[in-house]
Amino acid sequence: MVKISPWQAILPLAIGAAAADDCTCTLKPLGRARDDAPAIAEILSECGNSGNTVCFPESYTYTIGSALETFVEDATIRLEGTFQFSNNLTYWMNNSFPVDLQNQLSAWRFHGQNFVLDGGANFTGTIDGNGQAWYTYSKGGSNTPGRPMTLDIYNSTNGVVRNLYFYQPQFWAIITQYAKNITFENIEVFAENTDPAANGTNWVQNIDGADTYRSSDITFRNFTYDAGDDCIAFKGNSTSIHLSDITCLGGPGIAFGSIGQYTDRPDYLDDITIENLYVQRPSYSGVGLGQGTGAAVYFKSWIGVEYGTPPNGGGGGTGTVTNVVVSNVTMKDLDLAVYINSCLSYISTIDPDADPSQYCNTSTLTFDNLTFSGFSGTTDGSYGTQVAQLNCSTEAPCTGLTFLDFDVTTPNGAAQFSCQNVESIAGATCS
Ligand SMILES: *[C@@H]1O[C@H](CO)[C@@H](O)[C@H](O)[C@H]1NC(C)=O
Ligand SMILES: *[C@@H]1O[C@H](CO)[C@@H](O)[C@H](O)[C@H]1NC(C)=O
Ligand SMILES: *[C@@H]1O[C@H](CO)[C@@H](O)[C@H](O)[C@H]1NC(C)=O
Ligand SMILES: *[C@@H]1O[C@H](CO)[C@@H](O)[C@H](O)[C@H]1NC(C)=O
Ligand SMILES: *[C@@H]1O[C@H](CO)[C@@H](O)[C@H](O)[C@H]1NC(C)=O
Ligand SMILES: *[C@@H]1O[C@H](CO)[C@@H](O)[C@H](O)[C@H]1NC(C)=O
Ligand SMILES: *[C@@H]1O[C@H](CO)[C@@H](O)[C@H](O)[C@H]1NC(C)=O
Ligand SMILES: *[C@@H]1O[C@H](CO)[C@@H](O)[C@H](O)[C@H]1NC(C)=O
Ligand SMILES: *[C@@H]1O[C@H](CO)[C@@H](O)[C@H](O)[C@H]1NC(C)=O
Ligand SMILES: *[C@@H]1O[C@H](CO)[C@@H](O)[C@H](O)[C@H]1NC(C)=O
Ligand SMILES: *[C@@H]1O[C@H](CO)[C@@H](O)[C@H](O)[C@H]1NC(C)=O
Ligand SMILES: *[C@@H]1O[C@H](CO)[C@@H](O)[C@H](O)[C@H]1NC(C)=O
Repeated sequence: MVKISPWQAILPLAIGAAAADDCTCTLKPLGRARDDAPAIAEILSECGNSGNTVCFPESYTYTIGSALETFVEDATIRLEGTFQFSNNLTYWMNNSFPVDLQNQLSAWRFHGQNFVLDGGANFTGTIDGNGQAWYTYSKGGSNTPGRPMTLDIYNSTNGVVRNLYFYQPQFWAIITQYAKNITFENIEVFAENTDPAANGTNWVQNIDGADTYRSSDITFRNFTYDAGDDCIAFKGNSTSIHLSDITCLGGPGIAFGSIGQYTDRPDYLDDITIENLYVQRPSYSGVGLGQGTGAAVYFKSWIGVEYGTPPNGGGGGTGTVTNVVVSNVTMKDLDLAVYINSCLSYISTIDPDADPSQYCNTSTLTFDNLTFSGFSGTTDGSYGTQVAQLNCSTEAPCTGLTFLDFDVTTPNGAAQFSCQNVESIAGATCS
């Protein structure tokens, strides 16, 4: 354990004797971009328990120059200053924490029981991923190896993460893994790629707002996303996930998936609700290119045959998506309102014999009981009059799709639903 230098930590005379500002312990950064991660880990281990409050005040910027693993229990963390990650790519590629999905990594692995991680009532708390160097490195690619997610809520229960601004995340801003009963509220995620090339074929590659994986009872309330990939995505074994008051600017929308990528672990998505969602395309060009269809909500499951290896290959996995309710959605100029793609693969080839799309219709992952209610707004007409493409697999036809009060208009005429292998649908007619 690295010792906190006496002048770095500001401790009250007696632990537990809360100062006037309620901070049991306060950490001061070392300054001049020296690595504060060891001292942060230490103060949270020592003081982040027993009902204490650990403070990182607004006036300070802390450098996270090395992989950060923290443990708290029964504690409030007031992160009102800025945590800024270093951008030494070689370091992070070799030292981040493994995530058991698509060979990915995370930079801050946070273990918490009964905790509050709070950026303060004035929303000053900032987690700055210093991501530009990663965007430059990933130019023209998507799942380029070695990029860590910013905050990994890992093996955690009964927590609240609130009032935080995620700026220029390295990769996905937030992931929950093995997490239960965690509420995220008043969160904003923003990323932009300032490379000159970003205006054309480049974008803020693979910056998801938040992903849930192997987690249950997760709530997102008042979440704003402004970047280039999934706003919030539900990966395998996400159950009882509830979203409300979500704004997605740019990127393809809210994602169910990807799922079905691994043969050895079925993916179950169950009891997911989304209400009060606003989605629009980004206001500047470049973002979202390479992502294909933009929608309010979309579902992506892999081909039913294992083809190539993760992150960009895979498939042959199974599972279910069920008991989903999406309500009160407003969208502006998207490609589509809703789509289901049951033939996902990121392997691209010019050889038709090797084209993974030959395995469309092989997925055995099922979609059942999905309700879409109170949709309004517009498509941009890039799919003619279509507002939904529901491509289910012949091996697993979709059942129980319901559209209620669905009023999305197209510039090209009456809205149409395009369907493949949809066994039962209400409130819409497949054409
Ligand atoms: C980046 O990290 C590597 C590996 O940890 C280290 O050898 C190198 O000195 C660091 N570079 C800078 C500029 O700090
Ligand atoms: C760190 O990772 C890079 C890229 O993967 C690799 O080339 C390099 O050898 C690694 N360095 C160390 C010290 O492990
Ligand atoms: C928020 O800002 C106001 C005005 O600057 C200040 O009085 C108040 O103490 C701040 N609250 C917090 C929690 O920082
Ligand atoms: C979660 O934490 C518990 C208790 O510390 C431990 O027994 C378990 O192995 C951890 N699970 C994971 C997935 O790390
Ligand atoms: C969920 O977590 C919150 C916040 O820590 C806590 O107040 C609540 O009691 C927890 N709910 C359950 C069912 O444990
Ligand atoms: C929602 O969160 C933002 C910060 O991202 C904050 O400015 C706003 O006040 C919050 N809205 C409500 C109703 O709490
Ligand atoms: C970026 O593209 C937009 C429209 O495509 C154009 O108006 C703008 O001038 C371009 N900006 C730069 C810096 O090239
Ligand atoms: C999901 O949970 C089931 C058990 O309920 C397990 O068999 C499966 O491997 C899990 N999938 C993932 C992605 O962890
Ligand atoms: C529907 O969602 C919008 C945000 O997209 C929100 O402003 C509005 O209040 C919501 N309506 C209801 C009835 O909750
Ligand atoms: C469909 O899902 C909703 C929302 O979870 C649930 O209330 C309802 O019971 C489900 N219907 C069926 C037939 O399972
Ligand atoms: C649905 O299938 C059609 C015909 O194969 C294809 O053109 C379209 O891109 C597919 N859409 C999705 C969302 O998978
Ligand atoms: C999948 O099967 C449906 C009919 O069940 C067909 O319309 C569609 O073209 C097939 N998709 C591909 C890519 O072969």
